[in-house]
Amino acid sequence: MTHSRRDLVRHAGAWLATVSALKAAPVSPAAGNEDYWRMVKRQFPLEDKLIYLNAANVCPASRGVLDRHLEYLRDFQANPSFQNRMKYEAMAERARGKAGALLGCDKEEIAFTRNTSESTNTVVNGLDLREGDEIVITAHNHPSNNDSWKVKAKRHRLVVKEAVVPIPAKSQQQLLDSIASLVTPRTKVIAVTHLTNTTGNAYPAKAIASLARQKGIWMHLDGAQTLGALNVNLRDIGCDSYAGSAHKWLMGPLEAGLLYVRTERMSELWPQVVTAGWSDKVAGARKFEVYGQRDNPRLVAVEAALDFLQLIGMEHVDARLRALVKRGKEQLAAIPGVELKTSLDPQLSGGVIKFNVKSKPLKEVYDGLWTRHRIAIAQTPAGDAQGLRISPHIYNTMDEMDQVVAAVKELVG
Ligand SMILES: Cc1ncc(COP(=O)(O)O)c(C=O)c1O
Repeated sequence: MTHSRRDLVRHAGAWLATVSALKAAPVSPAAGNEDYWRMVKRQFPLEDKLIYLNAANVCPASRGVLDRHLEYLRDFQANPSFQNRMKYEAMAERARGKAGALLGCDKEEIAFTRNTSESTNTVVNGLDLREGDEIVITAHNHPSNNDSWKVKAKRHRLVVKEAVVPIPAKSQQQLLDSIASLVTPRTKVIAVTHLTNTTGNAYPAKAIASLARQKGIWMHLDGAQTLGALNVNLRDIGCDSYAGSAHKWLMGPLEAGLLYVRTERMSELWPQVVTAGWSDKVAGARKFEVYGQRDNPRLVAVEAALDFLQLIGMEHVDARLRALVKRGKEQLAAIPGVELKTSLDPQLSGGVIKFNVKSKPLKEVYDGLWTRHRIAIAQTPAGDAQGLRISPHIYNTMDEMDQVVAAVKELVG
């Protein structure tokens, strides 16, 4: 088979079907255009009766992304020669360019990692900090951006200061103040979450980055709940580093992620893994992804996931997600016995909805949603974030939002 014929066969699967469906859609991706979004939903291999509302944890990959992933897995295994694998380097560079374009930064500032946890830990362990240096975090940071700092603090005698998180947040100023009030002349790092997985608070990342920049403080942003969900421009935000996972809102392969490091501060961060392929000349953020042999096909799947978002348009994805969440939040807030823990204000929230139930044991509602309605969500059994979490994405319809609300109403009533 000739090269071009082989390429044709390779791409003539679900990926091509996805591209033509999205490109030829007779309707626009406006947030309220159900016909368009139903077509998007059909691109996903989700079970028929399943209402999947746990994007904040893991998202399904679309058929096209899966197809491209599988094609290249087969390609790799069928011919693992250096000659065949050579092409993967150029493909990873293409993916890097697309990730940079999605996030409004230079491709040189992007490293491909395994997930948000690894990206954040690269920052935690890669910064030179000295005894007495202070790190400001929040109580609702994920353990990868909370406990990781505490472990480092124990080892190097650093001081970690943890901001209290208001539930729900009342204003951006309130969130900014909760961070700013902990900053001292010894603060070297501010590490916050762009949008919390606990109660869905959106932190004012730009204002926090500006505060950090004025004082020469490193500002790390955990973007696990914004990468692929909301329109993010890292240059505009001005943070020094940003971490995200491909298997969440990006709808890419499992165990893939990225780390952004701002060019101007790149030299301050040490790599964590140094192995074959390392040299002092490794350019840009690539120095944080010298892992030895990589799973090259997985990076092809990351590129496919970026292409998929690009085909729809990130601004449309952002708007649709916000429309789904608005529908869910407003109806949930109106149910007696339901306490919304996420702000209704779009400036203070994103794709995550958290609510508590007063009239019934939480687990009963959680289990009832699954066993009676096959609705998959997440629960936090205790603590200040106690409650049920609903996180839709573009494969969900407005009907599904109404169905989950109706099911909650039935179960708490
Ligand atoms: C805010 C936040 N940060 C980090 C993570 C960790 O992501 P991963 O397990 O993909 O590393 C999560 C996972 O849910 C998260 O919600």
